[in-house]
Amino acid sequence: MEIHPIWHDYPKLNKHLLKVNQVIDTHIRIKDKKIQVILKETMNAGGKLLRPAYALLCSEIGPDYDQDKAIAIAAALETLHIATLVHDDVIDQADSRRGKATLHRLHDNKFAIYAGDYLFSVCFSILSKYSSSLSHVAYNSRSMEKILIGELDQLHSRFQPPKSVKSYLSRISGKTAQLFALSCYAGAVESHAGQQEIRHAWNMGHYIGMAFQIIDDILDYQGDMEEMGKPVMADVQQGIYTLPLIYAMLNEPEKTSAILAKERPFSDQDLTQLTMIISQAKGVEKAKRLAERYTSKALQQLDKLPDGNYKDTLRQLTLQILKRTT
Ligand code: IPE
Ligand code: IPE
Ligand code: MG
Ligand code: MG
Repeated sequence: MEIHPIWHDYPKLNKHLLKVNQVIDTHIRIKDKKIQVILKETMNAGGKLLRPAYALLCSEIGPDYDQDKAIAIAAALETLHIATLVHDDVIDQADSRRGKATLHRLHDNKFAIYAGDYLFSVCFSILSKYSSSLSHVAYNSRSMEKILIGELDQLHSRFQPPKSVKSYLSRISGKTAQLFALSCYAGAVESHAGQQEIRHAWNMGHYIGMAFQIIDDILDYQGDMEEMGKPVMADVQQGIYTLPLIYAMLNEPEKTSAILAKERPFSDQDLTQLTMIISQAKGVEKAKRLAERYTSKALQQLDKLPDGNYKDTLRQLTLQILKRTT
């Protein structure tokens, strides 16, 4: 089984994340073995496993660490994440993910939609087996609602000129930060952490998720396709206007709108011009600064958690993903 190289520096997490992958693997059971292989490959395609890692680390916050339960919760969260990505790639019509052809490219949209739906159900079947109370399943479904509302909002406002930084932040809070918050929360709750600690874990996850999506959006402009394993400059082509572009829009509304009004796909010249407007507006720098602010807010929450080795790992990891290039 492949595991992302970021974990090589974290032997204990590495070991537990391998187990997370095994739990997911054993829960994918389909009569048609060809389909089963396809779905198992999708789940094992070498993602970064960040959400399960946060869930595992946060399961050391409370006094009752239960390894098997923590691993199962982490597995459910990663399954939920991948289900949303399978659907996201259909919506974005993205050709590649994790350096491999996406499910809808290998098969078709219909196949990918059902595959994503199936993975949602796997998430709940893992959860219902291991979660200590039904209220946690309820929490998961409410989070799922918020993720999907974030994605629906993004879909619905495609090609509309970006409104404000505020509306962008509210969207990413739903589509991305929610799942990071849930991951940290779930770990804390299942280890029977106190109410305050659970709240800090939730907030920390929220801020990490905000920073994470801002960086993802910057990388869509600046990243390297090969290194990232997914297309770059794809958001703007798809009519998804993210933070660096919003800053450009605020700085040069006319010039930016004139380019955005053009037909898709954009020519190389249009893209170069957009890049220039963003660069004049210091769009990427400003976005990076905001991601740094969210990261320090996350670290402030982290500082309030009970002492333990897991805290150093959380800090190191959170700073590392701020600097990520993949
Ligand atoms: C991609 O998440 C979706 C976003 C929220 C930006 P990741 O970058 O964590 O995806 P994988 O799991 O590592 O491929
Ligand atoms: C993240 O948004 C998708 C979800 C949170 C479901 P993106 O569309 O930016 O993710 P990538 O860039 O395709 O990984
Ligand atoms: Mg996408
Ligand atoms: Mg993206």
